[in-house]
Amino acid sequence: MNSQPSRAPETASSPDTTQQNQEEEEQVMSEIHIGCPPKLTGPFISHFTFSLPRDVEYNGSIYEHQVLDASKRNQEVSLDDDGDLALPRRSKRSKNNFVVAIQHNITSSIPKVGLQVWRAELVLSDFVLHKMFTSSEFDGIVALELGAGTGLVGMLLARVAKTVFLTDHGVEILENCASNVHLNSALIPSKASVYVRELDWKAPWPPRQSNHPSGHSYAWNLSELEELERASLLVAADVIYNDDLTDALFTTLERLMSRGLEKVLYLALEKRYNFSVDDLDVIANGYSCFRSYVRDENEHDKIQTGSSCAFIGTRIDLTKIPQYANDYIRGQDVELWQIKYAREEENL
Ligand SMILES: C[S@@+](CC[C@H](N)C(=O)[O-])C[C@H]1O[C@@H](n2cnc3c(N)ncnc32)[C@H](O)[C@@H]1O
Repeated sequence: MNSQPSRAPETASSPDTTQQNQEEEEQVMSEIHIGCPPKLTGPFISHFTFSLPRDVEYNGSIYEHQVLDASKRNQEVSLDDDGDLALPRRSKRSKNNFVVAIQHNITSSIPKVGLQVWRAELVLSDFVLHKMFTSSEFDGIVALELGAGTGLVGMLLARVAKTVFLTDHGVEILENCASNVHLNSALIPSKASVYVRELDWKAPWPPRQSNHPSGHSYAWNLSELEELERASLLVAADVIYNDDLTDALFTTLERLMSRGLEKVLYLALEKRYNFSVDDLDVIANGYSCFRSYVRDENEHDKIQTGSSCAFIGTRIDLTKIPQYANDYIRGQDVELWQIKYAREEENL
């Protein structure tokens, strides 16, 4: 795995039929899959290894800090023959590693990019694990992943959360996600509820229910929709690449975040730069549309009076988040945002 550039999953806005056909035929590949067998079509299983900090242990439902015994502490400061600091090597099989098996495609058409694992999902995994290792914020919560694709982040959350909804759209992507939950059932405590559900940002609200004549096994039931109101955490990775989709995503976020328990969203996005004929410049597709929805909490002075942004964001400094997922290169182009929704009374 390395970080060679690959074709981004972006499309121009307002696709006509020709463009739609092109999107269905053209194959794109995530940088994360470089090194996978080339030309393999169909599902492939990769094993992602995550390393825990030495003083953190999983007890079956939460991560706990251990007091390191003297031998381990001494190990940390031992010197080699030259008097240099000898850092202990973590064995790949250490009990402080765990492995998540992910079924994914190596390439896909643009409408099926959810069959692949994208770099932002790994960055978001690092962040979610960091929170889980250093705080109890996510213990026992109800969480929802939007545009979950293969479902990696949601499954990591399920190790400590009470309920996790892994959502996406289209039966093929949802089926693949459900296979991943099945593949990793040993990692997820039996008391956690994990639901793979369809949440299509472009579909009418509320999402399709299972009692609907065209309801399928990824449709919601009433009690799940009620549970969704009790969610306090939303996560999403690499869902900003097309302005139409970004509009639909923020409509869905407004519906989710303006009701029920107060929710915080962590959104990881990859800025992919392309030359734009309209702008005669190199731009990151979808980024300015994203920023038109999110007011940066730290840029108050730049906000014009009367701005109607209801989403307030803070960019998280990724240099402070250790990399727990092995074998990927984070690169410089992924941003992670914490986003809150200002309900009416707080809105400007
Ligand atoms: C680039 S992929 C990211 C997948 C995964 N989060 C990752 O980073 O590996 C974009 C995701 O958004 C989902 N998506 C696109 N349009 C959607 C829609 N209208 N409603 C819900 N999800 C959608 C795709 O199916 C896909 O899973």
